[in-house]
Amino acid sequence: MTVRRPTRRTTRPTVGIVGLGYMGLATGLAFAARGLSVHAFDIKPEIRAAVAAGRTPYHEAGLARLLQDQLRAGRFGVVDSVATLAERSEGLFLCVPTPSRPNGEIDLGPLRRSAEEVAEALRPVRGFRLVVVKSTVVPGTTESVVAPIVSERSGRTGAGLGIASNPEFLAEGTMVRDAVEPARIVIGTSDARSRAWLERAYRPFRAPVFALTPSGAELVKYASNSFLALKVSFANEIARLSDRLGVNVDAVIQAVGHDPRIGDRFLKAGPGFGGSCFDKDVRALVHRAEELGDRFRSGDAALRINDDQLAYVLDRVRSAVGPLRGKRIALLGLAFKDGTDDVRESRAIPIAEALFSEGATVRAHDPVAVENFRRAWTPPNGTGAGELVLVATVPEALEGADAAVLQAAWPEYLRWPGAWTRRMRVPLLLDLRRALDRGRARRVGLTVIGLGAGDPAGTPPPRPGASP
Ligand code: UGA
Repeated sequence: MTVRRPTRRTTRPTVGIVGLGYMGLATGLAFAARGLSVHAFDIKPEIRAAVAAGRTPYHEAGLARLLQDQLRAGRFGVVDSVATLAERSEGLFLCVPTPSRPNGEIDLGPLRRSAEEVAEALRPVRGFRLVVVKSTVVPGTTESVVAPIVSERSGRTGAGLGIASNPEFLAEGTMVRDAVEPARIVIGTSDARSRAWLERAYRPFRAPVFALTPSGAELVKYASNSFLALKVSFANEIARLSDRLGVNVDAVIQAVGHDPRIGDRFLKAGPGFGGSCFDKDVRALVHRAEELGDRFRSGDAALRINDDQLAYVLDRVRSAVGPLRGKRIALLGLAFKDGTDDVRESRAIPIAEALFSEGATVRAHDPVAVENFRRAWTPPNGTGAGELVLVATVPEALEGADAAVLQAAWPEYLRWPGAWTRRMRVPLLLDLRRALDRGRARRVGLTVIGLGAGDPAGTPPPRPGASP
């Protein structure tokens, strides 16, 4: 006789994702990979269809594979309405965009709308439901904006409804790892049940959990991004001083960072920070500080230094190449960093605009971001307008070039063969990331001016035999 052991009910929390952008998708898939049951919804039918078919609408290493695995395992599924999502999932994670307004404030329109929709959908549902704000929102938003919408529209109160903040810390290019193996989890709740639910949902991740109030959790997100932005801006100022002093900023930072109180991570000088988060988040916290009757000077400094860094990049290009009118410049790397196809706040955009406005022909290349760049590009008005040509290969970008500018350090650029140099009229590379190995550059006959590397910024002679 077989004895059936009583099965212990181990009901795992069920997760609902509202918004399948980079972040919502990675978040949902990470929960699924950790064994939770995840339902996902996006307002755009084409995104729902793509994701349901195992296609990610974004270039992100490992994301498509994770999606296909989790769809196959039956732990991740796409639903066609918020009503179905609300019925099937206990924890509803709002992962919608919070774009910036010109004054630095964030636009809460999409978040309000999704909170309203979720709240309406909660009316007929029985059992506890938790609405979690994962979108990046300024401190105070979950409690003063989202909570009232959700409780009023859902008609729920007390024990049946929880509201929480749970910011994410995913960086593009390493999103899958960051989501599946987070360094820390931050949750902001104002009641014990919501906190317990989130702790249970995150238990399989085995990461340290920091439990705060909703405003506290929201501030952690902004303080983190502001500090990271400040580190980059700090490194960029040291890079400019390094150039003036003829020393290499990487050697300086390496030695500085060896002090364990400082560390050398996230102190890599470059063209300035880009991406959809740093500029937006720092500006939002500067604005929020003003609303609160205070100042956020370090955030303000990080932003100003970032502007200065762009001007500095352009000065370096001008002093290396001379007047830009009629010159041909290869722009390598259009994404805001390598490893992503995202061009939001990419330094490639203002660099291309400036070169174009000053009359240069820009031949631009990126292994994956060309289409996004094409959509983001509007030729600047004004006199001296040059030309922008998007090309499919690096040799096409380098053809007859008076210089190349390396904006994002894609690995394929770092393999620079001699044949590439021979395409150029002047064998000169402005390496904004100091990524190309100097030994290789010498071997392939390329003069490199590394931003912050202390190189003299004069113009090298044209390649012998190159046509003018
Ligand atoms: C950033 C944060 O790293 C994430 O933790 C955060 O979750 C995310 O913003 C967000 O708020 O959603 P991301 O914007 O994808 O992630 O990219 P980062 O790798 O942080 O790079 C931001 C910018 O700083 C890039 O332009 C990068 O090139 C630049 N950077 C970064 C440097 O110039 N030097 C460095 O040492 C590091």
